[in-house]
Amino acid sequence: MAEPIRVLVTGAAGQIAYSLLFSIAKGDVFGKQQSIVLHLLDIPPMLPVLEGVVMELQDCALPLLREVIPTDKEEEAFKDLDVAVLVGSIPRGEVTERKLLLKANVAIFKSQGAALERFAKKTVKVLVVGNPANTNCLIAAKSAPSIPKENFTCLTRLDHNRACSQVAMRCGVPATHVKNVIIWGNHSPTQYPDVHHCKVNMAGSDLACFEAVKDDTWLKGDFISTVQQRGVAIIKARKQSSAMSAAKAICDHMRDIWSGTPEGEFTSMGVYSTGNSYGVPEDLVYSFPIQIKDKCCRIVDGLAINDFSRGKIDATATELMEERDMAVAALAMLGHPQNPDTRL
Ligand code: NAI
Repeated sequence: MAEPIRVLVTGAAGQIAYSLLFSIAKGDVFGKQQSIVLHLLDIPPMLPVLEGVVMELQDCALPLLREVIPTDKEEEAFKDLDVAVLVGSIPRGEVTERKLLLKANVAIFKSQGAALERFAKKTVKVLVVGNPANTNCLIAAKSAPSIPKENFTCLTRLDHNRACSQVAMRCGVPATHVKNVIIWGNHSPTQYPDVHHCKVNMAGSDLACFEAVKDDTWLKGDFISTVQQRGVAIIKARKQSSAMSAAKAICDHMRDIWSGTPEGEFTSMGVYSTGNSYGVPEDLVYSFPIQIKDKCCRIVDGLAINDFSRGKIDATATELMEERDMAVAALAMLGHPQNPDTRL
C-alpha cells in the first residue's frame, strides 16, 4: 500500500462535498491502493454539521481512509497537501450583485491561495469548483506564486459530461461512446460546447458527431443552449444547484489528472492561458481541450476552428477578461488596509 496522500475538500459541510467525500474515500479517484488522509475545511458555524459528516465517514469503515481532519483553520487544512479541491465559496443566491459576489469570493480565494503557498506541498494539484470557478482559480493561482500555475485547474468537466450525455442520448449509445467533446471558456452560460472534433462510436465504428447525430440544426442550436443552461434548469427543478453530477465530475477530473487521459482522447478543464493557444488571451483560466500525462495537463493545440466556433470562443474569453479585471481590482483593494471592503 502506498504512503497516504493528503486531500483537502473545502466547503466540506455542503451538498457537493456530501456526494463527493465517499467516492474519494473509497478509492474512486486515486485508486484502490492509495490510502488517504482527508482534510475537511468549512467555516466555524458549519463545524457541528461537519462533525456529522466525519461520523458518517467513520461509519463507512473504509479501508483506504487513514484519518479525517475536520477544521475551520487554514493552517491545519492546507498543511502538506497533495491535492486541494476547493468547493466552498459564497454562492450566487446569497449575494445577488455580480460585482459583490466576485469581491466576496476574491477574499476567500486570495486567502486560500496564500494558505496553499504557505502550507501545501509545491507539487499540490488544485481543483477549483466554487463559482465563479475560472476566476476564483485565477485568484488562487496568483496568490500562490511559488506553486506552478499548471498545478491549478477549474472544473468544466460537469459541462463536458453534460455535452457527452446529450449527444449519447440523441444517438442511443452509452455516454462513454462519445469522445472528444470540448468545452471552451467560462463555466457560465457563455461557455461553448463544441462537437466539431467529437467522435461517436456507433455499431463498432467511430463516426464524426455531425454524421452520427444527423441533425445540424440541433447540434448548432438547442444542443448548445441545453448544455449552457443546464445548471439553471437543475436549480429551477431541484431548488438547489447540481451536487451529485458535480461530485461525479470532480472525481472524473481529478482521476484524469492522477492517472492521465487515454491515448488519442482529450477532456475539458479550465487551465491557465499563456496566450499561445487558439487566440485566447493570456492570464485567464480558460477551459480548453486537455490531454494529461504524468500528472501534467497539456492543451491540445492545432485543432481546426471554423467561423462558427471562432466567435463563440472569443465571446466567452471576453466575459472572462471582464471577470478577471473586476477580480484583480478587488484583489488590489483587499491589499489596502484602509479600505473598508477588506471585510468582504
Ligand atoms: P453549499 O452551499 O451546499 O456548500 C458550500 C459550503 O462551503 C458551505 O458548507 C459553506 O459553509 C462552505 N464555505 C463557504 N465559505 C467557505 C470558506 N471560506 N472556506 C470553506 N468553506 C466555505 O454549496 P454546494 O452546492 O456544495 O456548491 C459549492 C460551490 O460549487 C458553489 O459555488 C457552486 O456554485 C459551485 N458549483 C460549481 C460547479 C462547477 O461545475 N464548477 C458545479 C456545481 C456547483
